[in-house]
Parts: sequence; structure tokens; C-alpha cells
Amino acid sequence: MSIQTRTENGVAHIAIARPEKKNALSGAMYGELAQAFRAAEADEDVRAILLHGDRSIFTSGNDIQDFAQRSDISAGASPAKAFMVALTGAAKPVVAAVNGAAIGIGTTLLLHCDLIYLADDAVLKMPFVNLGLCPEFGSSLVLPAVAGHARAAEKLLLGEAIAPDEAVAMGIATRVLPADEVLAFARAQAERLAKLPPQAVQTSKRLMRAPGAPALAAHIEVELKAFQERLGSAEAKEAFAAFLERRAPDFSKT
Ligand code: COA
Repeated sequence: MSIQTRTENGVAHIAIARPEKKNALSGAMYGELAQAFRAAEADEDVRAILLHGDRSIFTSGNDIQDFAQRSDISAGASPAKAFMVALTGAAKPVVAAVNGAAIGIGTTLLLHCDLIYLADDAVLKMPFVNLGLCPEFGSSLVLPAVAGHARAAEKLLLGEAIAPDEAVAMGIATRVLPADEVLAFARAQAERLAKLPPQAVQTSKRLMRAPGAPALAAHIEVELKAFQERLGSAEAKEAFAAFLERRAPDFSKT
């Protein structure tokens, strides 16, 4: 299993573990993540959810092999959408601990977590345009809203990396910690949440999320339509082929 789960001290630990592919997320892994979130929500003993990768990487994003082979990855009832629906709809607080790279959907998903702790070696990146794609699952709504259009444009149009301190300054991460300490710190914060009155925590989270929720749900549908079209484009096909062939893409003829 490339998604590992366990519950301890009121916290559901969900770990992305596919080190040989830099924790790239396959369709099966999205399905497992969706199931893990649904199980955590349904389990009365779980009061907070902790999501993390391994010591070297959070996730390299969507499996590019899957992108290249399937054009329905984000459509309808896709596992990726099921996971993001489970994450964005989670009533319980979600804490993320990020070591190393969080690319593409790896950064997008952080925009929907509640407490986001980054290691000092973390790198956030959303290279959708670079892959011939466009933002997905709310990133083109949340990032400009939180950080302003001008700063979001550098990250979403150029696909520039976001350093940990910059992520905190932009308002998309909570705090930066030494790489060896981030997971333990995030876990301690999740356990603090788990000891608080659960209904008060969940009501407060709901109130914080409620104003933006309808616009987010509607915008995700708009993004998915555009993303689906992009996936089938010549630009995207060239970008995927270039990654898999370990060469620079050539967009001069696409
Ligand atoms: N999808 C599929 N496979 C991936 C992957 C992804 N997103 N990211 C890494 N891999 C695979 C590589 O193809 C390679 O497989 P191989 O050993 O069978 O050839 C293996 O994981 C190791 O990756 P490699 O690129 O050699 O590691 P690195 O340490 O040099 O670089 C990254 C790590 C994460 C910086 C780099 O792999 C990368 O940029 N990945 C793509 C990120 C991306 O664009 N994601 C999609 C965003 S929408």
C-alpha cells in the first residue's frame, strides 16, 4: 500500500509512501487517500487528521505517467476528485507536515488543510502551465485570494517555486521548522487539537470555511472542465513526453 494509515491518540495519521516514484500520486493512491479521509471522518475516536509524506519528499504530484495515459484523470467521479472532495469537505481539522517537495496537487491540497507545517527544506511548486495544464481543485481561487493576484501569478503562470518562509509570508503555510522536527511538531499540534472539545473545534472550522465554500465548489467545477481540455492538448502531450523521456519540452510547434 502506498498510502499508510494508523490512528493514535485521537489522530488519524495518513502517510504518502511511494518513495521509488518520489511519492507521485497514482489513481489507486487517490482512491486510498479518499477512503482514508472518509474513514477518519466516520471514526468517532479520530478528532484530527495528520497528512505527511516521508523525510525526503511530501509528493511530486500527480503521476505524470497516468496523466500521459489517461485523459479522464480529473473528470466526473475520478479518484483524484473523490480525494479532493473528501479533503475540502473534511469536518475534522487537517494538519499537514511537509518535508521536501510538494508539487502540483501536493501544493494545491495544502491550500485546503488547516495547519500547514513546512520543513526548512520544503519547496512548494505548481508547474501546471509548464506542463501545458492549468490550476486545479481551487488553487486558482484560493492562492490569488490569500496572496493577491500579482504574487499568485508568479507561482501559477510561471510555475515558480515557493520557499518555506515565502509560503508563510504569503499566508499559505503556518510555520517553518527544522526538517528533523516538522513531523513531530505537526503530530503534537494534531494531538493538541484532539484533546480539545471536538464539536467546538469542528464548528469553528466550519464557520471559518463556510463563507468561501460555495464559491470554491463552483470554481473547482470550472477548473476541472478547463483542466480536462488541457490534458488532451498537444502542449500537455509534449510536456508529459518530455518529462518521461528526460528532455526539455519544445512548445514551438504545439
Ligand atoms: N509522476 C511520475 N513519476 C515521477 C514523478 C511524477 N510526478 N515524479 C518523479 N517520478 C519518477 C521519475 O520518473 C523517476 O522514475 P524512474 O526512476 O523510473 O526513472 C523517479 O520518480 C525519480 O525521479 P527523479 O526525477 O529521478 O528524481 P529527482 O530527485 O531528480 O527529482 C523531482 C525529484 C520531484 C524534483 C522530479 O522528479 C520532478 O520534477 N517530478 C515531476 C514533478 C511534476 O511536474 N509533477 C506534476 C505536477 S502537476
